[in-house]
Amino acid sequence: MRDAPIVEKSTWHPGLITMFTLIGLAMLSFHTETAAQEGDQSRQVTFTEDVAPLLQENCQICHREGGIGPMALLNYQQARRYAARIRTQVASREMPPYQYDQEVGIQALEHDMRLNDDQIATILAWIDAGSPEGDPAKMPPAKSFPDPAEWRMAEHFGQPDIVVGTTPYDVPAEGNDKWWEPTVKIPGLEGDRYIRAIEVKPSVQGRGLVHHANTNLMRPGPAGELYNASGGRFTEYAGNKLGEIVPEGAGRLIPADGWVAWSVHYHLNGTAIEDDVTELGFWLYPEGYVPEYEQRLHRWDLEGDLLIPPHETTMTQGFHTFDHPIRIDSYQPHGHLRLRGASIEVLYPETGQREVVSMISNWSTWWAHSHIYEEDSAPLVPAGAVVILTHWYDNTEDNPYNPAPDQWVYPGSRTNDEMSHDWLGVSHLSQEQYEEILARRGRPVAER
Ligand code: HEC
Repeated sequence: MRDAPIVEKSTWHPGLITMFTLIGLAMLSFHTETAAQEGDQSRQVTFTEDVAPLLQENCQICHREGGIGPMALLNYQQARRYAARIRTQVASREMPPYQYDQEVGIQALEHDMRLNDDQIATILAWIDAGSPEGDPAKMPPAKSFPDPAEWRMAEHFGQPDIVVGTTPYDVPAEGNDKWWEPTVKIPGLEGDRYIRAIEVKPSVQGRGLVHHANTNLMRPGPAGELYNASGGRFTEYAGNKLGEIVPEGAGRLIPADGWVAWSVHYHLNGTAIEDDVTELGFWLYPEGYVPEYEQRLHRWDLEGDLLIPPHETTMTQGFHTFDHPIRIDSYQPHGHLRLRGASIEVLYPETGQREVVSMISNWSTWWAHSHIYEEDSAPLVPAGAVVILTHWYDNTEDNPYNPAPDQWVYPGSRTNDEMSHDWLGVSHLSQEQYEEILARRGRPVAER
């Protein structure tokens, strides 16, 4: 299929923008020098000197009391108790949860949660040496984490300018999954404004139950009925995804007549909650601010047969080409339990050359990541080149996440059904901008 140029209005300001999610903003992995990395054979890898700093920076945001991980990893006793499981999860790169192939495609990603090879080696060496504690005096001071009732972005931007809550919902203790889908007017806007940051915040009690909280931007059409404004998804919240920041110079429009259409998916766990509210916070640029660049979030659907027979596999693909150059800023595949892998490639028809941009061959539906390319690595796609999106599905018993290989799988939004689309943050460029970036960089898709 061929997409029409996205923007016809003369007010369009094409250009570059990097949008990045806050995933792991608190967890930027500082490079910690360890005995293993220094090749220092004279001393053993110990918990207090080598492993504790790695857990603080890479694990504790989730593995602490009140975090989303199943156990705390704050001190020596806790880490030692889980050493065997930590070994399995870290060696297989299942933890930290950031599925993205090491050997293929662009590796320069913003807020990449993956441990590097040295960090993994340090953790494994510690466990293989019998998990020694080391000198307790060398234990780093405890790291502090934000209050779960606070906006996580408050530390960067203060309190949000606008908060849109769901209408209250009584969550029952037991039963099937529930969806709460109110549509709520965005309050307090006198004119169109540009968003600097967005965050979705379930209630503290609701945090363990809110499986997804997605929002779409709605606007009234000519007859007053609300329609989904194009590219209008504000955010997708799942598990640990916190929100999105738009950097200086860039912006995403929030129209004065906007509404938020919520879809909050509760997975019941025995706890009833009265009047539960999930909130969306917006931090805005000052009134009158017009950004230099505008970026769109696209949903691109893949095509193919999602009716998967028992013990079978299948594949879907989507093809997109534009009559102007684009830059792909972020990539987030979406599928469920039978999705095993996803890739994005660029095909240059003039040369027949085909380049893999990203591949996720160990997909897990439990973790929704928007992979954000670093600005100098974000793939540039010339006019006429083809973006190829591919998903592969496995309904056999070889798929470790498959709950029922004897079942037929249908297309649908329940976790046991399947879906096939990708979310991409795309900057639409003029030919001059494309050439300017290309000249600066040398080639369209970054060197690995
Ligand atoms: C973004 C949140 C997050 C981060 C960061 C994270 N974990 Fe986890 N971890 C989880 C959740 C949630 C689970 C349970 C669900 C699952 O296994 O996917 C889990 C499961 C585990 C398990 C399996 C527990 C069991 O009962 O078998 C281990 C071990 C583990 N994590 C270790 C780590 C280590 C070590 C790190 C850091 C190197 C880490 N995790 C980083 C959220 C996180």
